[in-house]
Amino acid sequence: MAKTPKRKSAKKVTRYTYDEIKEPRTPETGHTSLLPSEDLVVTLPMDNGWSKAIQVGKLPEDDRRPVVVDMDPAADPVLFWSGKRNRREVPVLPLQRNEIVSESRIAQIIERARRAAEEKSGKARQGNLFAELEKTLRETDRTKRVEFYTHEEGWKNKLICGDSLHVMESLLHYENLRGKVQMIYVDPPYGIRYDSNFQQRVDSTKNDQKDQADDVLTIKAFRDTWALGIHSYLSYLQDRLYLCRELLDETGSIFFQINQENLHLATSLLSEVFGAQNQVAVITFTKTSGFSGALLSSVCDYLVWFAKDKSRVKFRQLFSKKTAGDEGASKYRPVSKLTAVSSDRFDPNRLATLADLTSQGETSTEQAFLFQGRIWRPRAGLHWKTTVSGLQKLAEKERVIIEGNSLRYLRFMDDFPVFPISNVWTDVGGIQSRTEGKIYSVQTAPEVLDRCVQMATEPGDLVFDPTCGSGTTAYSAERLGRRWITCDTSRVSVNVARQRLLSGTFEHYKTRNANVSGNFMYETVNHVTLRSLAYDLEPEKVELVDQPEVDTAAIRVCGPFEVMSLGRYSVEDWKGYVVGEPGIGQAAKLENYIEVICRLYRKDAAIQGATGLVHAVAEAEGVKIAISVGPLSGRVTGKQINDGVQDALASGILEVHVLGWAFEANVGEVKSQFEKRGKVKVELIMIRPDTLAEGLKATQPGMLFSPLALPDIEVAVAKNGKAKQLRVALKGVALFDRKRRTTEYKAADSGYVAAWYLDEDYDGDCFVDCQMFFDFKKAPNIKAALKAEVDPDEFTLRLTSEPFPIRQYKRIAVKVVDVYGNESVVVRDLA
Ligand SMILES: C[S@@+](CC[C@H](N)C(=O)[O-])C[C@H]1O[C@@H](n2cnc3c(N)ncnc32)[C@H](O)[C@@H]1O
Repeated sequence: MAKTPKRKSAKKVTRYTYDEIKEPRTPETGHTSLLPSEDLVVTLPMDNGWSKAIQVGKLPEDDRRPVVVDMDPAADPVLFWSGKRNRREVPVLPLQRNEIVSESRIAQIIERARRAAEEKSGKARQGNLFAELEKTLRETDRTKRVEFYTHEEGWKNKLICGDSLHVMESLLHYENLRGKVQMIYVDPPYGIRYDSNFQQRVDSTKNDQKDQADDVLTIKAFRDTWALGIHSYLSYLQDRLYLCRELLDETGSIFFQINQENLHLATSLLSEVFGAQNQVAVITFTKTSGFSGALLSSVCDYLVWFAKDKSRVKFRQLFSKKTAGDEGASKYRPVSKLTAVSSDRFDPNRLATLADLTSQGETSTEQAFLFQGRIWRPRAGLHWKTTVSGLQKLAEKERVIIEGNSLRYLRFMDDFPVFPISNVWTDVGGIQSRTEGKIYSVQTAPEVLDRCVQMATEPGDLVFDPTCGSGTTAYSAERLGRRWITCDTSRVSVNVARQRLLSGTFEHYKTRNANVSGNFMYETVNHVTLRSLAYDLEPEKVELVDQPEVDTAAIRVCGPFEVMSLGRYSVEDWKGYVVGEPGIGQAAKLENYIEVICRLYRKDAAIQGATGLVHAVAEAEGVKIAISVGPLSGRVTGKQINDGVQDALASGILEVHVLGWAFEANVGEVKSQFEKRGKVKVELIMIRPDTLAEGLKATQPGMLFSPLALPDIEVAVAKNGKAKQLRVALKGVALFDRKRRTTEYKAADSGYVAAWYLDEDYDGDCFVDCQMFFDFKKAPNIKAALKAEVDPDEFTLRLTSEPFPIRQYKRIAVKVVDVYGNESVVVRDLA
C-alpha cells in the first residue's frame, strides 16, 4: 500500500542576532551633549608614499627647463591633482541612535497569517514572535542611558544617515571600531556626474524633471558639478579611503566598484592608500546584456580588491559547478569518445578528459613503467607525476590511457565537480541577476556582493559600506549571517534600504554551535586527485562556503538593527561655523554658519545681532518673517521654537521659520500649540543633509530646504477582547508649501506617504519600530513555507495599525516617511 505523504508543518520564523559580540552603548538622540567634547576635530594623515609639499606653478613661456617633481624615488609613484592634501582635519561627531528596528515587517505578516489560521482551526495562538527581544531593547534602567560608551551591550547592525567621512571618523573615534571591520564595499558615484547616482523618490527608480520635489531636484543639479570636477572627486575618495584603511582588520579587504572611465584613477589611488603590493585582484563583472554606443560597447564594471595586508588576507575560494562545455569544463567528453577500451567500471557516457601524466624536470628516481606489455618512460626533461607504484595503482583503476605515443591520465568531471571562480564574472548582473526587481537607480547585483562577502569574510564578521544606496551590502550581509554597518547621505537611500531589509526573507543556515559567529555547516564535495588514487587515499573534502546547509524547517527574517544619524547636541557648535582658510582648489569659504544658512534660505535675509534666537529677518508680500536656525550638529528642540517665537513677538513679527537639520519628536506639538492660540504662524523647515558638503559647487542653493511635514493621526479604542487596546490611523500629513506660504494637507492615501512606523510605547528618546507599514515592491512567495494564506492587503500600505495595549510610558510616536525620504514624527500622550 502506498504511504500517505507526511504533511509538512509550517516553518518556524527565526533571525540571527549577535548578543555574544559586545559593543559600547551609543547615545540616543539628544544625549550626545553629555559626552566630553574636547576632541571636536582630528587630523587625518594621508601621505602614504609622499610627504613633501609640492608647489606646482606655471613656468614663464620662455622657460624651457624640464619640470621635475621632487619625490622620494623609494616611494611608489602617486597621482597628483589640484587640491591634493596630505593632512585633513575631520570634525568628530558622535553617532546617535534614533531608532531601533526590533521587528521585521515580514515577520509580523507571517505572525498574523498564522494567527488567523490558528484561530480558524481553533488552536492556541502563538505569542509575539520577538517580544523578548523588544523587552530587552526597551531598557528600563534609564541611568544606563547616560553612561554612553562606558558599558557594553550586544551587537546590533547599523543603518546610518550621514556623510561617510564623518560616519567613519565616528566609528573610529567613538565606536571603537578601528581595525575591527573585515570587509568594506565601496560603490561610490562613478565620477563627477551625479545624474546616474541620484534617486528622487523612495517608491520609484525613475527621476522626473517635473517632479514637485523641487528641493530634491535641485540637489541633483547642485551635485551635478563638483567644484573642481575630477579633482574634487579624487579628494573626496582619498579622504574616505584613508579612513577605510583605519577601519580594516589586518586580514581585511576592501572592494571598490567602478566603471572603465575611472578604473585607472581609482586603482592608482587605492595603491597609494593601501600599498601597491596589497592589490589582490581586479574583478570584471557583467552589468548589462545590452549593447549600445557608437564605439565598442562597455558591458562590464570592475571591482578593485585590495587587502589591508595581502600576506594575511582572509580568503576563501569559491567554486562554480562544472557544466560540460562551459567555463571550467570545456574539455570534457563522454569517456567512450576518449578511449576505445571499454570498461565495466565506467558508464561510457560519463564525462572525462585526458590529462598529463608528466611534469617538467628530470628526476633520478626510477621512471620505467610497464603498461600493456610495453615499457614507458617520460620524454626528455619530464618525469611522471607520481611514483612507478603510483602509476601501477592508477592503471589498476583504469585511469591510464594510451593516446598516440604517450600515456595519459583519465580524469572524470565528477572527480571534482566544481572549479574555482576567477576574476571574470559573466554570470552576475544584467538580466541574469537574482535582483527582486530594481528598487534603486544605481543598484549593484546582489550576486556580486554575495561573492565578495563569501570570499573575504566568515559568519559574524563585520562588513561596512559607506555608499549604502538601496542597501545591497547590508542585505547580502544579513542574508549571509555577517554583521553590517552602512551609511548614505540620502534619506531616500536610507528609507529604501530599510524597507528592503524589513521585507526580506532568507534561508536559515545551520550553525555549528548555535552562534552565527561560530560558523555554518557547509555542503562539501569530494576532490578525487591523481595523488589520492595513486596512494589509495580518501579524497579530500572541499567545503563550499557559498553553500551553507539550510534548515528547511525555518524561514528567517531580518535581525534587529539601529537607525542612526550624526550629531552633537551642543550649543557651542550652533553659535557659529567657520571653515578653515581656503587652500588650492577649496570650495567657497563659509564664514559663518548661521549667515550662510539664512542667506541660502532667503537671499534678502537681514542678519540680526549675536543675541537672541531670531537670527535673520526677511520679508515676503509685506509680511515679516523671523528666521531661526538650529544647531549645526544637533536637533531643534521645543525650547528653541518657544524662545524663537518669544523673540520674534518681542520685535512684532508674527511669522517664524525655524530651520534645522533634525528636529526633536515633540516639535509638531509645540507648533500646533502656538497655532491654536492663533497669533503666530510657525513653520519648521528641514535643511538638506549635504547643503554644506565641501567640494560640491553650490549652484542653485535657494532650494535646499524642505518643510517638515506633520503627521495627522487618530487614536481610537479597539474592541479586542477584555483588555483595552488602541488602534492608530494615519489620516494624512500637513505640509507647508514654501512658494505659496500656506499649509497643504496630503491625505495618507494620496500617494505622498511612502511608509509609516509606530512606536507603541515611546520613551521620549529612541523610536522603537513596533509596527511598520509600506508597500512591498513584490509580494514574497511564502505561502508554502507558512502553510497559511496571507491577506494580499498585508503587502500594501495599510493606514490603520494593529490593536495594541497601553504600556509603560503611556505615549506613542508615529513616524511618517514621505516619497522623497523626508521623515517626520508626531508624539501623542495617551494619559
Ligand atoms: C552608486 S550608489 C550605491 C548603490 C549601491 N551599491 C546599491 O546597490 O544600491 C552610491 C551611493 O553613495 C551615496 N553617497 C555619495 N556620497 C556620499 C557620502 N559622502 N556619504 C555617504 N553616502 C554617499 C549616494 O547617495 C548613493 O546612494
